[in-house]
Amino acid sequence: MRDVVISGVGMTRFGNLWDYSIRDLAVEASVAAMRDAGVDHVDAIYVGNFSGGTLIEQEHLGSIVADYLGLTPVPSMRVEDACASSSAALKVGFLDVASGHSDIVLVVGVEKMTDVTTERATYSLSLAGDREYEGYQGITFPGLFALVARRHMYEFGTTRRQLSLVAVKNHENALRNPNAQFHIKITPEDVEMSTLVADPLHLFDCSPISDGAAAVILTTVPIAKKLSSVPVRIAGIGQGSDTIALADRDSMVGFKATVEAARQAYKMAGISPEDVDVAEVHDCFTIAEICAIEDLGFVPKGKGGEAVESGLTSIGGKIPVNTSGGLKGKGHPVGATGVAQVVEIVEQLRGSAGDRQVENARIGLTQNLGGSGGTVVVHILEVM
Ligand code: COA
Repeated sequence: MRDVVISGVGMTRFGNLWDYSIRDLAVEASVAAMRDAGVDHVDAIYVGNFSGGTLIEQEHLGSIVADYLGLTPVPSMRVEDACASSSAALKVGFLDVASGHSDIVLVVGVEKMTDVTTERATYSLSLAGDREYEGYQGITFPGLFALVARRHMYEFGTTRRQLSLVAVKNHENALRNPNAQFHIKITPEDVEMSTLVADPLHLFDCSPISDGAAAVILTTVPIAKKLSSVPVRIAGIGQGSDTIALADRDSMVGFKATVEAARQAYKMAGISPEDVDVAEVHDCFTIAEICAIEDLGFVPKGKGGEAVESGLTSIGGKIPVNTSGGLKGKGHPVGATGVAQVVEIVEQLRGSAGDRQVENARIGLTQNLGGSGGTVVVHILEVM
């Protein structure tokens, strides 16, 4: 396999972008990534998108993106893997370049969620769970992650305050990210006083409903060296799966697919969790970040809450997590999230993350979870 590098990144801001259509979002992020890389053509396009059909009544996004970028007849296809759609698209793009089939590939993740009511978005998101045994019975994603939170609290003594501190940290980081959906400072009391969504999760424990897009350009080392941007190597990729229904799992206090994806990615990169300088993890709900840092091996199982409380995962801590603001503060347009995590890590490794820069960041990791953990993709990136 050939080495694959990221030589361009771009993203839109995330939020309620009512003046943007899905094609506007995909084009803006893609053009920004192509400009950043200094390329005017690509050999293939991979579009990560979860739910064009039920959210905006538009499928076949591969064709739309190639068309509106003016890049037809370049091959272009959509990849769907729930909230991990664009990480999965990135894996496909990686394999395309690594295999020698394509030299320059565009991967763009996009989602337009705010054109529908919260009820409609909740229904659409529930299609990523087990429709027959979860969705039809009335459980939503906040409900599923509430079960995980309650069990984690029961088994490990994880506290309500520790959940709140995940949200406080990520909103604090989002204040330093101009592309983030929210720019508000919150306290643990604000989290605990916010509307109860699914006990024990409150409004500020939840990622929001968002619009947005993020894109990267993948290429080979020799081509990247001729381009002006600073390349970042994709050192490791891992992907794992699990039962689609939460109730079918042996354990609810972690995600087996994360453990497997991380195992593969660490092995491929030849590193261990201690080598990671900065990480973007899938904090769709505050409990999910606590599980992620445990499942990735940053801290022992059950110690995630304490780690957040001690500042270990804050900027300036041993392993800063979600410097972008995470899904909680930056927003979660589901199909865009995986690539947006990668955009943040590339900025960190280039040293261009501004006020939220982690000093001497050389190795970064992303963990992107689909559904309630039925799919997880982990990427490890390193400075060349
Ligand atoms: N965090 C912080 N603030 C939020 C928020 C969130 N997650 N969601 C909405 N808000 C704010 C809005 O900005 C708005 O503020 P304003 O009154 O100052 O303008 C206010 O709360 C009400 O917004 P609204 O859109 O009416 O909220 P809602 O009750 O319809 O939706 C949730 C709130 C939590 C139900 C919704 O954000 C949600 O479903 N989140 C989870 C999404 C999800 O499951 N993703 C997949 C994960 S696997």
